[in-house]
Amino acid sequence: MRRPILAANWKMQKTRAEAAEFVEGLLPLIAGSRAVDVVIAPPFTALDRVAEALRGSGVALAAQNVNPEEKGAFTGEVAPHMLADLGCTYAIVGHSERRALYGESDAFVASKAGALLARDIHPIVCVGESLEEREAGNTLDVVARQLSGSLAEVPTDRAAEIVVAYEPVWAIGTGATATPEIAQEVHGFVRGQLVERFGTGGEQVRIQYGGSVKPDNVDSLMAQPDIDGALVGGASLQPATFSRIVCFQPLGGAS
Ligand code: 13P
Repeated sequence: MRRPILAANWKMQKTRAEAAEFVEGLLPLIAGSRAVDVVIAPPFTALDRVAEALRGSGVALAAQNVNPEEKGAFTGEVAPHMLADLGCTYAIVGHSERRALYGESDAFVASKAGALLARDIHPIVCVGESLEEREAGNTLDVVARQLSGSLAEVPTDRAAEIVVAYEPVWAIGTGATATPEIAQEVHGFVRGQLVERFGTGGEQVRIQYGGSVKPDNVDSLMAQPDIDGALVGGASLQPATFSRIVCFQPLGGAS
């Protein structure tokens, strides 16, 4: 049984004060939620403040990016051990915005995931096709290529520690969510690839869906067999909407 994982990716939003206010609003709203992992990924500048606000809550802290190097002349970059020092236990790598806007390759994403594991930080590895790729019928090829490239440095015996996020680019920030059936089709494919690559460890990897996840679609998404969580952008910015996502009710499923 895979434990659901609901993560907030704030992207480049919230000052320290706004971040602390969010946490203060969120914690009472999720106090009675079932056994799920909740993760918050603020911008680097608010990590310390959010870590302090989350202390003792059981909610995990994530970074939105990392550099695979340990130290050195890498202006503007942040190393894995620095994230560990701030209390991060997760970090997002390979987000489509970083792949598209900053030219990050699968090989670079792979080195980030490997470097995070070396510091015992769970990588949340993002994959997903563009609209053009979907319309050309290339979705599964693109996802397969991104997965094999981006997971190249994950040791087989550590597969269970990673999270994969399937985020179709056409669904990010557009309001156009993949239907649960479309998402499950790709998640099922991702599961197969993970099992091929890691054996039984692949069954334990949690696969999040991301792309316009909202309170009104999370229940049907989470009812799918290979959707183990959500990576949420816009709807993670307000405690009321994110808490409803954390407290999802899988349709027809057990609570
Ligand atoms: P939205 O939920 O705003 O579509 O963003 C999804 C995302 O990119 C999360 O990483």
